Amino acid sequence: MLDQLRSQIAAHKHCDEHEFVAKMIANPALPPEQRKATLTLAQSLVAECRADTSNQSLLDSFLLEFGLSNKEGVALMCLAEALLRVPDSVNMDRLIAEKISSGDWKGHSGKSSSPFVNAATWGMILTGKMVQLDPKITERPGSWVKELASNLSEPIVRSAVMQAMRIMGGQYVLGRTINEGFKQAKKFKKSEPKAHIRYSYDMLGEAARTQKDAQRYFKSYMDALEQIGVNTAANRTGSTIADADGISVKLSALHPRYEVAQAHSVQKQLYSKIKHLCVMAKAHNIGLSIDAEEAARLEMSLDIFERLCAEPELANWDGLGFVLQAYQKRSTSVARWLVALAEHYDRKLMVRLVKGAYWDAEIKHAQEQGLSDYPVFTVKANTDACYMACAKILLSANDSIYAQFATHNAQTVAALIQLTTMLGSQNFEFQRLHGMGELLYHHLRQHSEFAELAVRIYAPIGKHEDLLPYLVRRLLENGANSSFVNRFLDDNTPLDELVKDVIDDISARPVYRHTSIPLPRELYQLEELPRINSKGVDLDDAEHLKELLEGIKLQRETVFAAKTLVSGVSVQGTQHPITNPNDLNDVVGQVTFSTPDAISNALTAAHSFVDAWRDFGPDGRAQILEAWAERLESHYPELVGVISREAGRTLADCVDEIREAVDFCRYYANQARSSRYADAKPLGTVFCVSPWNFPLAIFIGQVSAALAAGNCVIAKPAEQTPTVATRAIELLLEAGCPASAIHLLQGTGADIGEHVLSDPTINGVAFTGSTLTAQVIHRSLANRADGGV
Ligand code: FAD
Ligand code: 2OP
Repeated sequence: MLDQLRSQIAAHKHCDEHEFVAKMIANPALPPEQRKATLTLAQSLVAECRADTSNQSLLDSFLLEFGLSNKEGVALMCLAEALLRVPDSVNMDRLIAEKISSGDWKGHSGKSSSPFVNAATWGMILTGKMVQLDPKITERPGSWVKELASNLSEPIVRSAVMQAMRIMGGQYVLGRTINEGFKQAKKFKKSEPKAHIRYSYDMLGEAARTQKDAQRYFKSYMDALEQIGVNTAANRTGSTIADADGISVKLSALHPRYEVAQAHSVQKQLYSKIKHLCVMAKAHNIGLSIDAEEAARLEMSLDIFERLCAEPELANWDGLGFVLQAYQKRSTSVARWLVALAEHYDRKLMVRLVKGAYWDAEIKHAQEQGLSDYPVFTVKANTDACYMACAKILLSANDSIYAQFATHNAQTVAALIQLTTMLGSQNFEFQRLHGMGELLYHHLRQHSEFAELAVRIYAPIGKHEDLLPYLVRRLLENGANSSFVNRFLDDNTPLDELVKDVIDDISARPVYRHTSIPLPRELYQLEELPRINSKGVDLDDAEHLKELLEGIKLQRETVFAAKTLVSGVSVQGTQHPITNPNDLNDVVGQVTFSTPDAISNALTAAHSFVDAWRDFGPDGRAQILEAWAERLESHYPELVGVISREAGRTLADCVDEIREAVDFCRYYANQARSSRYADAKPLGTVFCVSPWNFPLAIFIGQVSAALAAGNCVIAKPAEQTPTVATRAIELLLEAGCPASAIHLLQGTGADIGEHVLSDPTINGVAFTGSTLTAQVIHRSLANRADGGV
């Protein structure tokens, strides 16, 4: 059963969004009456929060004025994101000058009701109270920022801006140390004496880069757990684990390579750490939640989570928690798996349901990787509907799953209230992030029927240096105009525009996916000369990875035989060993060097085919290049195997090379057909000389460009990577390229170069490599009787 559900999870990773959503909305989580009640409650909550201007937070006001939809907001967010990473003051000043000097700051001045956001006050914050602002500057608000910057010395502006960014970031952090956090938490709990408030502390730090980082984060989690345990024991208000404060852990903090390619080491090293933290949490009878991170890491975290569930040492502990991201197309399958997991291991689990904080990154990652589809929905309403579908699955297993609904969206809160009421669920809580959602939950509690609802606050603890990735996610979340919080308090957004029935909203679309977010493969369809994006390989998918690893294994067992190919025929010559760059004593095969006769024959054959190749026409040549691209894509495992063995490249580099090579073929095919080059005449025969560091991509880039332009080609790959070139040319011939148009010569640069470059039939040279060799080529050409090409 669990295996079956895992297969479903895998199958849904890149499933068709429209089909999935069509099925989902055919059976919505809430019936019409409850959907209507959701809107009424949500609208009244929003109206109450908007009316309560005195309790709106600094950050709410700031983001109302400076979201991501205006240039100045983006400039400030860029500063917040980047400034603390800039290592030297010169570049800090440059960044500040660039971001602050452009932008219409005047447009924001005095607009906000918040004194913080009001431009003049911002100026004071900018200067960190270190300088007195010249009243003349504040009187002329239009240029205050620019004048401020030009009137003050750079170090003062720099430290002032740093200070401002710290203040902004500080809004999201409960304390620099866990003890500071406890104090703040105590204060907040006191301010809402009747509310059921709990905390989940999060030690800032993620995506460890080194073992040292991973060890430091691990230690900070251990120390924090110890202190949370002691603090909770002293202040416990209820008897269950759900009543107690807990901790949230990011697995990427515990291992420097938390990725599928390192799954073995992850399962060994990382697992023992997270198990240790769980054992500590159990000993203190508090909850520990494993935060959800990038979609690529999900399968690994499911493996780890199942192992933890099965641990005898963790039996009879109800605090083991998982975070489920509803924006992933796999989320309902993961929700069902979690329910089955709890039942299978006969234990209670905590599941925090979130929408997901990495949306922008997931979209970009899938595009950059050329994946078949996205792991996340592309339409916000689809995520909202899926959130409710997941909520229903979790609540239907209320005996084994303690559902934790994390959201700052008043409509989602209202919908959850309808759902839990409808299902008669008791066992759940809401969650919000520190620095967000305070007003919403405060007003929810003012409704007497909801006064008892429990709310947990996720509370980041740590220093500014570790805040950055978290801060960026919050800024994106707050600044994006698709976010509920971005328009929540904006009186310019009418209530019925902000709060709309999700199912009606989705149904009104002709297709249930975003029409302006093309599939990764269709990324270049809107270009002036459209082409398909090269196919990527999902290296985070264990199955895809296995296929490539098998390709590598096969090539490890093959003896390479790199050829000299003249007019498509493998020509005899002297044999030379090819060595493995990782171990020069390892001879992986032989390359047949070109004899002087073979070189001469290639030159003659190419020259005599120049007219015929020109007459093939641009479209004929483009079709061959496109067929070459197809063939390269269908030989992934083999090519990866050859490149990795002969050039010593990593798996990801091999994939990137093939993709780049494929893209060159399609790109130049387009260029060939383009009217821009309609009058361009081929040069004749072109000599292509490429280096070892991109043995496929640069090699094919040069050859495809020359062929596309109607030239015959003599190709000379690097001595170190003759097999990669051989396979590339064999695939080109299979793709229908006439054998007389392309000739592959193997040998040393000196031997082949001297012969070919001095030949008057060579009309062009494409070379990538060192300046020294370029100069040698240049001199050889200049020495020719005809003065070179
Ligand atoms: P809404 O404005 O209703 O939703 C915003 C969300 O919609 C975005 O974050 C994104 O997920 C989604 N979205 C935006 N545009 C699109 C689009 N075009 N197509 C599809 N979907 C879109 N996040 C994690 O990833 N991992 C965690 O471990 C985690 N822990 C959290 C803990 C707590 C207590 C809280 C409150 C949040 C946590 N989050 C976590 C962050 C959470 O994912 C965001 O706060 C949440 O997505 C915001 O949702 P919302 O309902 O408040 O806002
Ligand atoms: C994040 O780190 C809150 O876990 C969530 O963005």
